[in-house]
Amino acid sequence: MNFKKELAAILYGLLNQEIPEAQLELLIEKPKYTEHGDLAFPCFTLAKLKRKSPQAIAQELSVQIQSPSFEKVEVVGGYINVFLNKKLVSEKLLNKVMAEVGQFADQDFGKGGTITIDMSSPNIAKPFSMGHLRSTVIGNSLALITEKCGFKPIKINHLGDWGTQFGKLITAYKLWGDAEKVRQNPIKELLVLYIKFHEEAERDSSLEAQGRSWFKKLEDGNEEANSLWQWFRDESLKEFSRIYQLMNVEFDSFAGEAFYNDKMDRIVHLLEEGQLLVESDQAMVVDLTEEQLPPCLIKKSDGATLYATRDLAAALYRKENYDFAQSLYVVGHEQSLHFKQLIAVLGKMGYDWAEKMVHVPFGMMLKDGKKMSTRKGKVVLLEEVLNESIAMARQNMEEKNPHLVNKDQVSKQVGVGAVIFHDLKNHRMNDIEFSLEEMLRFEGETGPYLQYTYARGRSILRKADYQAKVLPENGPNTWEKEWKTASLLMDFAPAIKRACENHDPSIVAKYIIDLAQAFNKYYAEVKILEENKNLETRLALVFSVSVVLKEGLRLLGIEAPEEM
Ligand code: ARG
Repeated sequence: MNFKKELAAILYGLLNQEIPEAQLELLIEKPKYTEHGDLAFPCFTLAKLKRKSPQAIAQELSVQIQSPSFEKVEVVGGYINVFLNKKLVSEKLLNKVMAEVGQFADQDFGKGGTITIDMSSPNIAKPFSMGHLRSTVIGNSLALITEKCGFKPIKINHLGDWGTQFGKLITAYKLWGDAEKVRQNPIKELLVLYIKFHEEAERDSSLEAQGRSWFKKLEDGNEEANSLWQWFRDESLKEFSRIYQLMNVEFDSFAGEAFYNDKMDRIVHLLEEGQLLVESDQAMVVDLTEEQLPPCLIKKSDGATLYATRDLAAALYRKENYDFAQSLYVVGHEQSLHFKQLIAVLGKMGYDWAEKMVHVPFGMMLKDGKKMSTRKGKVVLLEEVLNESIAMARQNMEEKNPHLVNKDQVSKQVGVGAVIFHDLKNHRMNDIEFSLEEMLRFEGETGPYLQYTYARGRSILRKADYQAKVLPENGPNTWEKEWKTASLLMDFAPAIKRACENHDPSIVAKYIIDLAQAFNKYYAEVKILEENKNLETRLALVFSVSVVLKEGLRLLGIEAPEEM
């Protein structure tokens, strides 16, 4: 049901195949105002080519454009405006949605290719930050969107579970730690120790050296160091898992930085073989002058490997294990340089698949215009934020719908959905102002607004005791009032495709907002349940809109309650 294609094919014939069909299709626009029809073909390019006025060409072509799919063709200025056959198109479209339900808008251009998605990736023994929330939410949605397009996504949590900070943490724990306290409140307690280490280190310069030596022991397999590290890691993961469960996010792999410890020698070896390692300031680096980038640090003077080395090992491992068609890294834009270096080094090593690696950056989460960070002592804990949002959603519900049966479940769906939608509705590069009040509003561009629109649709269908059934072609129904909403259903698949290609879930978010707004306007204007010849049409529309809203929300990682 691609009418741009159909129009392009007709024009291609009319123009004696002089201009490629694909090029014609690209020229076709969707007019801003419905008065100008559903498709518009600007004739200005043709005018230059043919040395005629755009109006004359538009006039000439327009009278020859004929198809049962089009009900009217008009010329305005240099444009040919095409009006689709509302009845034919709506009936076909709604029948398709009713037949396919959750599979509607499924696509197969991914051809089963694997996409690894490096996402979430919090640092062990530190609180889950807002940046990690963004990465989790964007990555999860990209997994769902790419899957809908026929790819096979692999979600990888590249845990920050290795590095000199663990030496510092072990030092601090051995000096001031209390096992019981850590067990009870691991992340908070470990953070307290970590902060104390840095405070004390300002006075006592021997601490840094102790930290380095503990990390060395850890890297050399010292038993005490390793069992402490393992314990910190387990406790942290337990806390992170609670957050992932709240958000309904699962991973295919938790292979974090530590996983690559025994795979680093090979990287160093390969770099040496390729004569890419040079010494600089007592460290080993890959020179990237040619690429106009600063050198990439591979190995420190004491032999310790680095973040970049582990990422090189991870990239190779992923290529060899998953044979990815694309490899995405959903990580904040402040790491852009790191990923440029990573890709450049792999390119120098001769791996042409380095081109398939994409850094998918995003902006910051702000509170009152300032970065929300894990500042000394004052930490914004994501779990608390989610729980607060759920509590507020619940309070709303007690006021609006006190008799709702499964309030626990619904307030979780609404509270969490609000946080996710607030994140995904903007292009990911934009900074986001964090505001629970704003996220939880029932009007405007919010998660609850969309969920409420869905629940309203479902409630109408329940009242009518409606079962989806195929609409008769050329039935008695009219489509004037329904057209705006019905025709939007056509745009779902292209929106998903663009979101997939641009790694940008906000395209799907904006699309479902448009659909919900059109539908709510329709709902305000039309008595849906009124008994007359158009009843079937209206119910089929309500059903189809519900299907698409639910699927759109699902692609963002948000659930749609049947009632709220
Ligand atoms: N743990 C890192 C951080 O919090 C993010 C890791 C991103 N993924 C990667 N492969 N480097 O900054």
